[in-house]
Amino acid sequence: MKTKILITGSSGFIGFHLSKKLLGKGIKVHGFDSMNNYYDVNLKKARCKILKEYKNFSFTKNKLENKEALEKIFKRFRPNIVIHLAAQAGVRYSIEKPRVYLDSNITGTYNIIEISKKMNVKHLIMASSSSVYGANNKIPFKETDKTETQLSIYSATKKSNESMAHSYSNIWKIPITMLRFFTVYGPWGRPDMALFKFTKGILANKKIDIYNNGKMYRDFTYVDDIVDGIRLLINKIPNHKNVGRYKNDSLSPVAPFRILNIGNTKKVFLLDFIKEIEKALGKKAIRNYMPLQKGDVKQTLSNTNLLKDITGYKSKTNLRTGIKNFISWYKKYYNKN
Ligand SMILES: NC(=O)c1ccc[n+]([C@@H]2O[C@H](COP(=O)([O-])OP(=O)(O)OC[C@H]3O[C@@H](n4cnc5c(N)ncnc54)[C@H](O)[C@@H]3O)[C@@H](O)[C@H]2O)c1
Repeated sequence: MKTKILITGSSGFIGFHLSKKLLGKGIKVHGFDSMNNYYDVNLKKARCKILKEYKNFSFTKNKLENKEALEKIFKRFRPNIVIHLAAQAGVRYSIEKPRVYLDSNITGTYNIIEISKKMNVKHLIMASSSSVYGANNKIPFKETDKTETQLSIYSATKKSNESMAHSYSNIWKIPITMLRFFTVYGPWGRPDMALFKFTKGILANKKIDIYNNGKMYRDFTYVDDIVDGIRLLINKIPNHKNVGRYKNDSLSPVAPFRILNIGNTKKVFLLDFIKEIEKALGKKAIRNYMPLQKGDVKQTLSNTNLLKDITGYKSKTNLRTGIKNFISWYKKYYNKN
């Protein structure tokens, strides 16, 4: 059977990179995205324009909440793999606009799961987030750790997605893999995220906000490594033939359902992150120290042993190279040279 992949959120940061990679390998991809204005729509349009240059790409602009429109696409395109990345992202915005998260992430994801069930999709892969580990302080985070303490509505919707997906997988035996991404960065990155905001601020001689006075760390993961992890998992369909094969497997005891971290497995303190950006830009930041933002976690660090055991995954891009790549894209795209 020829692989046909439906990618939701294809005009988004990760969806764009993933689609481009798969299209380059000759795989048929249908992109689905509402092109909403949570951040600069022109950036989404520019990403989508690049994807449209591929003959094997087709695209629908619509909302996940529109079940009829989604169903039509599934019937017309008949994907055997669905990679669901569209979501209302961002921890901070979820404090201002929680309702948007319920609509996009809960109703939207429900529609994707329900239609995938109806259409007998071979493998449904969906984005969760490292933020579901919430207030956990057993570091690094492992898929089999308890996740009971989400700190924001954003992460609560992602945790709900995992639960909804597990129950559907249990009842209907749909193979589902949930991916917990750890702070993704790289070219074509999101304007609401730290690397973009810091670079923009430093270049414009504006103060940059440093939360929790810089006393926090993240596992920053380069977008190509995330794409590699997803790609390697497409044919690793959860099933019970290999129970016990992998150490600390998160495979459900009752359903073809598994959760996987994709991260870089390195701890980077916020102030060191800023120093790397300053070095790459050859310019100092004007620092504005702030308290911890409501809903934010202080630390994230992934354990990716399970992903490595299943796929051979190894993250390849170090922070210095990743930041340089972002900055050269940023300067070119925004004519800042
Ligand atoms: N970037 C990260 O660091 C990170 C970390 C953890 C998890 N994630 C998750 O990975 C996925 C992709 O994230 P991203 O960084 O590419 O975000 P993004 O915002 O760049 O991409 C999401 C895309 O989904 C689209 N979208 C949003 N709501 C929609 C709706 N209701 N209907 C149709 N389309 C809709 C947006 O227009 C956007 O293009 C998301 O599910 C996000 O929660 C991202």
